[in-house]
Amino acid sequence: MRTQVGIIGAGPAGLLLAQMLHQRGIDSIVLEARSRAHVESRIRAGLLEQGSVETLTQAGVAERLLREGLVHRGLELRFGGQGHRVDLAGLTGGKVVTIYGQQEAVKDMIAIRLAAGLPLHFDVEDVAVHDLASPRPRITFRQDGQDRVIDCDVIAGCDGFHGICRPSIPPTDLIAFDRIYPFAWLGILAQARPMSEELIYARHTDGFALATMRSHSISRLYLQCAADEDVSAWSDDRIWSALRKRLGDGVQEGPILQKGVTAMRSFVAEPMRHGRLFLAGDAAHIVPPTGAKGMNLAIADVRVLVRALEAFFAGRGEALMDRYSATCLDRVWKVQRFSWWMTQLLHRQGDGFDERVRIAELDYLTGSAAALTTLAENYVGLPYAD
Ligand code: APR
Ligand code: PHB
Repeated sequence: MRTQVGIIGAGPAGLLLAQMLHQRGIDSIVLEARSRAHVESRIRAGLLEQGSVETLTQAGVAERLLREGLVHRGLELRFGGQGHRVDLAGLTGGKVVTIYGQQEAVKDMIAIRLAAGLPLHFDVEDVAVHDLASPRPRITFRQDGQDRVIDCDVIAGCDGFHGICRPSIPPTDLIAFDRIYPFAWLGILAQARPMSEELIYARHTDGFALATMRSHSISRLYLQCAADEDVSAWSDDRIWSALRKRLGDGVQEGPILQKGVTAMRSFVAEPMRHGRLFLAGDAAHIVPPTGAKGMNLAIADVRVLVRALEAFFAGRGEALMDRYSATCLDRVWKVQRFSWWMTQLLHRQGDGFDERVRIAELDYLTGSAAALTTLAENYVGLPYAD
């Protein structure tokens, strides 16, 4: 097999990259280790920055998103028993965020690629990358018991945090920056009306809680829990009573459809390129879920990679490919800062000096137009470099 861009991973990064390359007449093959059903049912965050919605729209994959996505012009911060609305649109010249489940965006992109008859292979095994320093890198894998090879011009490592692409780069050529938080999120999906039209981020002495949604009838709720929390210790009753306590009146209960624990980690690998291998999305960086930046950052990487590959395949040279990592990392670190900041501000960690400072900061934030503007412009998404 032969392709211009071999794409490893059919998450948001790999699928969007394949689609945007296709729009520009560049061919690719997407390889995914898991089944289509698995990829389509994986529950992740569901909040898109304004720029992400625009990017997905330009990519021609947003028809359902524009129809079903819930546009939010603000959010609420709740602490000390009081709610404070943050007018995102008012503070950012009219920018908004859109609630749409990541797996819904993934489903849409898979359907569009398969309907166009373009190559996307699920359930592939033993994926490995070779000759990354050469102009003809190769991907090997097994499919239906057969060994296969793809000769590529470029390989895109879109295979998430646990993929094989990043570990294929010699450790001496990569620097990793890592922060693991001493808490996690217990998340539920419930068949219940959202308690509020907008998201509520609550800080409580028992810990953080977040009320978000997937639709007008499905709520997504999170509780700060221990990093090694055992989900089986959380009965439905215990979950609802913790949510009521931390979020206050108005929690709407209903059947719990799914429960899970989300780990909290900040991670960046630098650089995001090794020879002809380009890392994008979670393969290169992880943010803690506070602020829901994971998919948005993956989309921002893909925009930069598409421009670089477009120039390269049009014979305009490697200058943009050479700048790929630095261009992406500029945004990655700003988004890391924001995700870390929101995480440490809203979670309960002990009773010492730092805790008092965090409470003072929240109080200052909600009373300062300058501080709220900083929050809002990061939350709706910083402008793209291009
Ligand atoms: N071969 C092929 N595919 C692989 C391999 C492999 N060796 N290893 C992992 N994959 C697949 C995973 O099964 C997954 O479908 O790569 C895909 C990576 O997708 P994501 O983890 O969704 O990562 P990404 O596309 O970068 O999207 C980032 O997704 O994980 C969330 O929170 C994250 O919202 C963020 C967004
Ligand atoms: C989600 O919808 O799952 C979500 C929304 C906002 C966040 C985190 C997660 O900050």
